[in-house]
Amino acid sequence: MDRTFVMVKPDGVQRGLAGEIISRFEAKGLKLVGAKLELLPEERVVEQYREHLEKPFFPGLKAYIMSGPCFLMVWEGKGAVAVVRRMVGATNPAEAAPGSIRGDFALDIGRNVIHASDSPESAVRELGIHFEAEDLVGYSRIDEPVLYE
Ligand code: RTP
Ligand code: MG
Repeated sequence: MDRTFVMVKPDGVQRGLAGEIISRFEAKGLKLVGAKLELLPEERVVEQYREHLEKPFFPGLKAYIMSGPCFLMVWEGKGAVAVVRRMVGATNPAEAAPGSIRGDFALDIGRNVIHASDSPESAVRELGIHFEAEDLVGYSRIDEPVLYE
């Protein structure tokens, strides 16, 4: 099974959207295997977004991510990385499809509510930044026999 790293950003936490976001992934059939609310230290924000270090928006992005608590999660399921990216929607919420999280709950690219890993390799890397192996819980969901063929 595939795992992906997902994070409700500070605007999403402040706007009370964490529960709605969790509900969407739960209803999809994905399994929550790790979660924590945290004010991220600068080193982990830089590591998380290292591909953007030289971009003009990086200082604003870092300040945004550190402006309040984030809700960090690990979700597991068949094709979890791609499935979650589709549920999250386009980076710019103004262009994100209705029905996606960004499409339904955000307007501004600099306040787009949620992060999700963009590839299986990123998921492994990002999981490693934010979670220890013992923080993740392996278990069966009772509906797994009817969720999967
Ligand atoms: P994320 O990494 O947060 O899941 O978002 P993403 O893959 O959809 O987009 P990415 O290109 O990785 O950008 C990371 C985050 O940086 C902010 N951003 N601002 N002002 C801008 O032009 C701009 N471009 C990107 C967004 O918060 C974006 O989610
Ligand atoms: Mg990204």
